[in-house]
This record gives sequence, structure tokens and C-alpha cells, in this order.
Amino acid sequence: MSDGGWQRVDAGDGVLLRRVRAADAPGVLAVHGDPRVYALDPHETHRDLAHSRRFLEPMLRHWARHGFGYWAVLVPLDWWPDGVPGTRAEEAPDDGTRVHAGLGGLQHYLMAGEQVLNVYVRFAPATQGRGLARRVINTAVRMAPTVAPGLDLVVRTRPANAATRRVAERAGFVDEGLEPGTTDMALLRLSAPVVDPAG
Ligand SMILES: CC(C)(COP(=O)(O)OP(=O)(O)OC[C@H]1O[C@@H](n2cnc3c(N)ncnc32)[C@H](O)[C@@H]1OP(=O)(O)O)[C@@H](O)C(=O)NCCC(=O)NCCS
Repeated sequence: MSDGGWQRVDAGDGVLLRRVRAADAPGVLAVHGDPRVYALDPHETHRDLAHSRRFLEPMLRHWARHGFGYWAVLVPLDWWPDGVPGTRAEEAPDDGTRVHAGLGGLQHYLMAGEQVLNVYVRFAPATQGRGLARRVINTAVRMAPTVAPGLDLVVRTRPANAATRRVAERAGFVDEGLEPGTTDMALLRLSAPVVDPAG
């Protein structure tokens, strides 16, 4: 299967989306260890580096199996001067002086027996409100047909998560009420996008 360029995407204005790696755990902890990032699910706040490493494991497996998945989202240093620098490792030379802003992208998800693509976005407070979620979701929607054609995209979030609902609706997702089989997750859906011939 082609990765459709998914491994590394220049998202403009210095924002880089690239394959997430085990070495990203410290950057993930800097974001996911902040209770403000899990305001509606405080128990999910990462406690330590081991927690972030475990959190990454299924994402790394998804990448290995499907050739796409959630990206590490890296932003210019001046967006968050206190952020954790990219890996600068040999395998990720493009990180440069960017810092980890969070994770975002698509993964396969089986929802009440239906195969869909789950959209994920979670960013450090210092980087929120600058259109990062819009950028990542629009990129994922545009590229989805290149990696997993014919599948609907879903955003699943707490009903009270107004910012996520706003971001999803702005990208064209339609509110379907509660996720089937749940009592506490809102579901927003975008019908399977088609390839944009204009690129
Ligand atoms: C939700 C989240 C991903 C949005 O990322 P972001 O990069 O700040 O989003 P953007 O800047 O692209 O857009 C934010 C939009 O939400 C709106 N918004 C922000 N807070 C809001 C609120 N409390 N109520 C309603 N809308 C809100 C903004 O006005 C903006 O909409 P606009 O562009 O039409 O003005 C980010 O806030 C985040 O990571 N939150 C914590 C984790 C989380 O909830 N993740 C989703 C889990 S399902």
C-alpha cells in the first residue's frame, strides 16, 4: 500500500507532520502530562515517561501495520519556546529546531462493527487557538483517500468538548449525537472523502 506521502507532511508555516516514533515519548509527555490537555478526562493525564511510552505503543504498531497513523505534530520554536525539541535523531533530520505540539491524524477504528477512520487531535495549551487543529484535520481529510479510500472519518469526543466539536464541524463533520454503544461520547462524521484532482 502506498503511504501517499503520509510519513512526512509539510503543513505550511513551519508546521511539520511526521511519523510518530518511540523517541517522541518526552515530547508526548510534555503535552499529555499537562492536566489542561485532559480537562474532561483528568485520569488520562500522563503520569511519567513510562506512561507516554505505553501510550505510543499502539500508534507505533498501527504505523508498522498500515503505513499511516497519527503524526507527531512539530511547530516552530517560537510557538512554544519552552516546548520539547524534536528528536533531531538521524531518522528525523527534518525536525530541526521545531518543538512537539502534540499528536494528530487518522487511525483505523472499529465502531460498533463498522470500519471507520478515527480522527485524533490533542495539542499543548501554548499552541492552541492558532489553527493547528484546522490544519491537521484538513490535511488528514485531504490525504485520507490515498491511504484508506472509502472509509468515513469520525471525531469522537466528550459532548462538553465545545472546541473539538467546533473544529470538526468547521471541517465538514456532521454531529450524529452519541457514538453507538456509548452514553458519554459524541460522534461527528464525515462521509468518505474522495481524491481532490486539484491536489
Ligand atoms: C480541541 C483542540 C484540538 C483544538 O486545537 P486548536 O489548534 O486550538 O484548534 P483551532 O485553533 O484550529 O480552532 C479552535 C476553534 O475552537 C474554537 N473554540 C475554542 N474554545 C472553544 C470553546 N470553549 N467553545 C467553543 N469553541 C471554542 C475557537 O474559537 C476556534 O474556532 P474558530 O476558528 O471558528 O474561531 C485543542 O484545543 C486541544 O488539544 N484541546 C485539548 C485536547 C482535546 O480536547 N482534544 C480532542 C480530544 S477528542
